[in-house]
Amino acid sequence: MFQKELNHPIFQLVSEESQKLGFQTFVVGGFVRDIFLKRASKDVDFVTVGSGIELATAVRNRLKKAHLSVFKNFGTAQLKTDDWEFEFVGARKESYDRNSRKPKVEDGTFEDDIYRRDFTINALAISLNAPKYGELIDLFGGVEDLKKGLIRTPLDPKITFSDDPLRMMRAARFATQLNFTLVPETLEALKTEAHRLSIISQERITDELQKIIKSAKPSIGFTLLFDTKLLHLFFPEMVRLQGVEVREGKGHKDNFYHTLQVLDQTCEKTEDIWVRWAAILHDIAKPATKRFFPGEGWTFHGHEDKGSRMVKPIFTRLKLPLGEPMRRVINLVRLHLRPIALTKEQITDSAIRRLIFDAEADLEDLMILCKSDITTKNKEKEKRFQANLLLVEKNIALVEERDRIRNWQPPIDGQYIMDLFGIGPSKEIGIIKTQLKDAILDGIIDNNLEEALKFVIEKGKELGLQRNEFGI
Ligand code: CTP
Repeated sequence: MFQKELNHPIFQLVSEESQKLGFQTFVVGGFVRDIFLKRASKDVDFVTVGSGIELATAVRNRLKKAHLSVFKNFGTAQLKTDDWEFEFVGARKESYDRNSRKPKVEDGTFEDDIYRRDFTINALAISLNAPKYGELIDLFGGVEDLKKGLIRTPLDPKITFSDDPLRMMRAARFATQLNFTLVPETLEALKTEAHRLSIISQERITDELQKIIKSAKPSIGFTLLFDTKLLHLFFPEMVRLQGVEVREGKGHKDNFYHTLQVLDQTCEKTEDIWVRWAAILHDIAKPATKRFFPGEGWTFHGHEDKGSRMVKPIFTRLKLPLGEPMRRVINLVRLHLRPIALTKEQITDSAIRRLIFDAEADLEDLMILCKSDITTKNKEKEKRFQANLLLVEKNIALVEERDRIRNWQPPIDGQYIMDLFGIGPSKEIGIIKTQLKDAILDGIIDNNLEEALKFVIEKGKELGLQRNEFGI
């Protein structure tokens, strides 16, 4: 069996060397699962009843171009060749300390090793031992669960999750990536053991969260995390989006489920994880800005600005990168209402120019976010909103072609103005700079040095500034 999947020469070599050393060796985990899911993988895990390091070293001696790394502390070794990665580890029996993720590791049998794995679909193995070479070992019905699309732990889920609480995040992640369902006992254990996530580092939690967000339909994972209250432990701002308040018979939409729909719709349009993050955070300040006006209804005034200011603390806590990716997310959250707002008034060139100027390189992403932000169930309305946004896009293209505003800077900068009037940095310089930018964006003057200079001198005069005779 698995002739095609085991066609890399290393499998035969591992089998031979393992026999010479008197070990029993198996292919385990994700590689075997992915064969059944028809997802070709180049990451292979070998478990040997013996020393993983000895086996890897013996194989390396026969596969000259492979690169060997040995991790003595962990008793593991890795071989890299071409774009394949092979991990070698001795079979283990682990018992866990309740307060740490670090298990006490002892040598164990093949069964010990398989029993301590996270899910039945990950507990499949292929023997590399003659005469059973290529035979599947499925101790917990993993193949059946793969067929039925089920996530199930091999042991009592409370034990499996308590042993390593990160597996609760992994359960949500696999359910999302594979579009699988958690069996009721496993789901129940996620709820009762959720609090144990506290011993897991934020980096590991975020790593799994990112894999959920990279999936085709992240709402699956977020719904699971919310229902089991795992989300409450590390992302309370998102939890607060849930719920509908009704006053005087007027409700607002449930911003949690709205956000999930926006996120899924964004994922249909882009693989870019930071645009996906902008979708997650676009309405994050709605609970904090919510107000009810009797006789009128609900408003969330300023939620885009407040929301953009919430991005950094959230990114910091979740240990997400604080550089360029975060800048983009902040910009998208801050601007997410602008294209829609444009369609509510007459679309003037000046408003379009301002949007292009403010959005800079994030304009296409902003339009993706805005199109995804339409979640009305009214087909008529949806069509109208989408058509409005297309019109904005068309106008953007026209203005761009004409004015080349993107990445644009006024022809005169702050230094030039300071030299012109012979003064240092001051409030006046700031005022003139803004007036100049606005005048160009609003089409009051043309975008060239001559007109800009005339304009700046005039504005300087109004502020009582004299042109510096020795300067420009
Ligand atoms: N494993 C586990 N518990 C964990 C992590 C891993 O039992 N917390 C086991 C599973 O049997 C898993 C294998 O170790 O299949 C390899 O783990 P990993 O490389 O993290 O995941 P994969 O299953 O290979 O999946 P992916 O590559 O999608 O992360």
